[in-house]
Amino acid sequence: MNIFFKNIYILFMNLNFKQIENFFREFITNKKSSNFYNFFALFGFYYIGCKLIRSLYSFKKYFLTTDSNLKHKYGDDWVIITGATDGIGKSFAKEFVKRGHKVLMIARNESKAKQVVDELTKIKSDALVEYIIYDLDKFYTDEDIKELEEKLSPYKEVSILINNAGIGKMKSLVNLSNSEIRSLINVNMNSVTFLTKAIIPKMNKNKKSLIVFSGSGLYKIKPAYSTVYSGTKCYLDGFMSCLSQEHDNIDFTYLEIGPVSTNLNRSTGRSKISPDDYCSSAIKHIGKYEYSAGHLKHGLLMGVVLSNNLLLRSTRKIIKKGVEKMLNNNNINQ
Ligand SMILES: NC(=O)c1ccc[n+]([C@@H]2O[C@H](COP(=O)([O-])OP(=O)(O)OC[C@H]3O[C@@H](n4cnc5c(N)ncnc54)[C@H](OP(=O)(O)O)[C@@H]3O)[C@@H](O)[C@H]2O)c1
Repeated sequence: MNIFFKNIYILFMNLNFKQIENFFREFITNKKSSNFYNFFALFGFYYIGCKLIRSLYSFKKYFLTTDSNLKHKYGDDWVIITGATDGIGKSFAKEFVKRGHKVLMIARNESKAKQVVDELTKIKSDALVEYIIYDLDKFYTDEDIKELEEKLSPYKEVSILINNAGIGKMKSLVNLSNSEIRSLINVNMNSVTFLTKAIIPKMNKNKKSLIVFSGSGLYKIKPAYSTVYSGTKCYLDGFMSCLSQEHDNIDFTYLEIGPVSTNLNRSTGRSKISPDDYCSSAIKHIGKYEYSAGHLKHGLLMGVVLSNNLLLRSTRKIIKKGVEKMLNNNNINQ
């Protein structure tokens, strides 16, 4: 229904006021019933037309998007990935290594980082993969930022930044500890802000570069018990949207990620996919679309859930019940 009223609004904006005034004057003075029907037929056609165009666009996005040569498009300088020691970030690192990119991982755990470097060099023996150790859960004082900049200083040119590291906690706000809240904000928002600020000057102004955000479909669904987590993902959306208008030389993509089987998401569900599966699809979407679920399964899921308010409300109820069940089980097991 919201979309219906939005379309009416757009239609009105496109008509000039004289036309609208004449239409209503004729409608009121003549009370012609044919006008009444024409009026709604017009809206009907417009509404169906808009839906059709959106469906075709989604069809193209999720069925016809082909692999593109990211090296050719963005150059072969460093690809920086946060949270590449596990889950989605690690799968992204594999995709970039397969495509011959130089990968720099920002990790907090050195033994895990070394292990991933080994795994990645097995995929491609001449792969150039390095890491810096930096815990993203910081207050980002001037000293913290200086430390980050110093660690990044050997990496003078960057083609692509994948802001992927993130943590999630599904709990009611009052039950989140203060340190859990701080960590969510530090890792999911603050680190992205300061890292992006540090990296942009390293991107070539005469060539296109790319910045990707591992967002979440929850930033649109906004279910209960994800207050701070969804809030941080909404922040990334706003951050990207404003930033993209300041930098014509940078492409931006916000990934509206759905359920992926990783340490972060241990729930069971049929819509879950493996991180490798997710990234082999999402890599085709980055740089091409400003917003994408990255995978057909997640695209369909988001499309259905957000298609009307009734479905959105039902999804919120299902998620709420699911999280409550999980929280109760956790309490029983503790
Ligand atoms: N999985 C899903 O269903 C899902 C859905 C929507 C959105 N997402 C988003 O996708 C992104 C990746 O999530 P994932 O599912 O791949 O999670 P994951 O498997 O838990 O991996 C998270 C990565 O972030 C790193 N990390 C966490 N805290 C860090 C810190 N303080 N400093 C440095 N690195 C840190 C982890 O490092 P360690 O290896 O040292 O732990 C790991 O490499 C997140 O932004 C998440 O919000 C995931």
